[in-house]
Amino acid sequence: MTDFKKDFPILEKEVYGKKLVYLDNAATSQKPGYVIDTISDFYRSDNSNIHRGAHYLSEVSSEKYEKAREKVSDFIGARDPAEVTFTAGATDSINQVACSLEPILKGNEVLITGVEHHSNIVPWQLAGAKLRSIPMDSDCNLLTDSIEITDKTKLIAISHASNVLGCVNPIKEITGIAKDHDIPVLVDAAQSIQHLPIDVKDIGCDFLAFSGHKMYAATGIGVLYTSERFSDIMPARGGGGMVDKVTLERTSYLNPPLRYEAGTPHIAGAISIAAAIDYMQNIGMDKIRMHEHDVYSYAREKLLETDGVKVYGNTEKMCGSISFNLDNIHQYDTGMILDKMGIAVRTGHHCAQPLMRFLGTEGTVRASFALYNTEEDADMLIEGIEKVRMMYA
Ligand code: ALA
Repeated sequence: MTDFKKDFPILEKEVYGKKLVYLDNAATSQKPGYVIDTISDFYRSDNSNIHRGAHYLSEVSSEKYEKAREKVSDFIGARDPAEVTFTAGATDSINQVACSLEPILKGNEVLITGVEHHSNIVPWQLAGAKLRSIPMDSDCNLLTDSIEITDKTKLIAISHASNVLGCVNPIKEITGIAKDHDIPVLVDAAQSIQHLPIDVKDIGCDFLAFSGHKMYAATGIGVLYTSERFSDIMPARGGGGMVDKVTLERTSYLNPPLRYEAGTPHIAGAISIAAAIDYMQNIGMDKIRMHEHDVYSYAREKLLETDGVKVYGNTEKMCGSISFNLDNIHQYDTGMILDKMGIAVRTGHHCAQPLMRFLGTEGTVRASFALYNTEEDADMLIEGIEKVRMMYA
């Protein structure tokens, strides 16, 4: 595999005089020069508001924005670009669904998993729903045979891949069960869109949420896929650009996708997602996946072989993140010492406190991988861990 680090200007940086080993990709990925240039070119040459002005620049911006929607729609296998709404990020996407479905969810139940990020917990609570988790074994494999659906279950909301452990959930099995009970499914793809093939028709989900910034695009932009059968749910946000007629008594709304995009969107952000998709597709998605799989498996094996390291979670399919702790060393200390060696990891509960409780720990050290990481990065991490252990011996 070619060295893709050279495409990412920030990866040339040294921190504390050491070569940067960036392993915090589940928090945010770095951006290739191509995406940075696309954003900069947009503001230099095309910037204007969309769908509003009767002038040249507005038409150029509108066209680029709608082309970005088409690109995302193709990328995730949607039936129609109208099923793709740009949001502020995965968290915003999930909150919008929670807000729109509140009348159905209030006093009822949302089925989640035990590995969820707070962004797939708190919005449902705000909508007045009770949460129940699909049981899982100690390695965090979901026990899908034990899924219990009751009259109160109105939605299943599951992450595709855990932001903490990298465990990939059997989402197709779950959408199959949901279909038998005619229950909609939301998939949080924030930690999978950059690693795994996603086809919403094949998955059979009704909603899919992800962020741009974890897939090499800008921050502050995300996507909500809403299947056609939910095309008439109430918009969570109101304002300009999403209405047909407004009177002081009542308002009628446009059809999707504009129905769900009140106000001026993050136009450059949407265009940056299209650029990120172009960047990845130019390399080849299969090539990226094979390379990531090799580096991830290598790093995991090495961590499992290292004395005094406890690795959390173990499912058949894994990607992106690996969480671990060192015996008798606080995760913050490990993270801080690794940082001084130029190795960027995340420590703490990773916005997944219920999972931490399940694992019986306050927090973990998390190394998370992207397409530019290499086996050499994994070796540097292991070397760093050995040094931390020596310091505490
Ligand atoms: N959700 C991001 C993470 O897991 C921020 O680090």
